[in-house]
Amino acid sequence: MSIETRRTRLEVLGEHHAELMQQYYAENEAHLAPWEPLRPAGYHTAANWRFRGRQAEMDHAQGKSRRYVAILKSTGEIAAICNFTGITGPPMQACYLGYSVAKRFEGQGVMSEVVSAAVEHVFATLDLHRIMANYIPENARSGAMLARLGFQKEGLARSYLKIAGQWRDHVLTAKINPQHEAD
Ligand SMILES: CC(C)(COP(=O)(O)OP(=O)(O)OC[C@H]1O[C@@H](n2cnc3c(N)ncnc32)[C@H](O)[C@@H]1OP(=O)(O)O)[C@@H](O)C(=O)NCCC(=O)NCCS
Repeated sequence: MSIETRRTRLEVLGEHHAELMQQYYAENEAHLAPWEPLRPAGYHTAANWRFRGRQAEMDHAQGKSRRYVAILKSTGEIAAICNFTGITGPPMQACYLGYSVAKRFEGQGVMSEVVSAAVEHVFATLDLHRIMANYIPENARSGAMLARLGFQKEGLARSYLKIAGQWRDHVLTAKINPQHEAD
């Protein structure tokens, strides 16, 4: 099953996306490196992405996570990725959101288009109450996008994640399911 947006089609990450994922990370290595954990050698090979794709399919089937790739309709390449992980049931009904857009589609609203459609879909189909997204204070683009999509700041977590080899503070944000707020 896929989710249509104006410029992309969101598909659940699977084994068959391995080559596209390898290409996405090879092309965007310098763009993504400051905002991601250090990865072991071979992490972004097609063989490893086949393994991770199978894992994503199993996790999806078991309701543990939803990892989406946003395929650009005009070319078939991956324009962005959007992951909902750590899905937890009642009484919290929450998950974490992570995302990135290819450097050459940055600043064009593609990420907002993808994340807003995915958030709407996940809220509607998983009956989640809260989606949490956290970013390094210097990541102004990430903060601006979350604010645009209605994520609210909840605080600052010190030394929260080890990113690019260093423990970094993160701004904590969350969006509450609008359907639940209306209850
Ligand atoms: C964080 C990241 C996803 C933000 O991407 P982005 O392209 O800036 O986000 P958006 O899709 O919201 O695009 C917003 C820009 O597109 C413009 N835009 C054009 N058309 C638009 C539309 N239809 N809707 C919204 N914005 C539009 C906006 O004006 C804005 O431009 P500006 O940045 O010059 O002000 C991106 O910088 C990235 O991948 N960074 C590396 C990985 C990363 O940091 N991930 C997040 C870790 S917390």
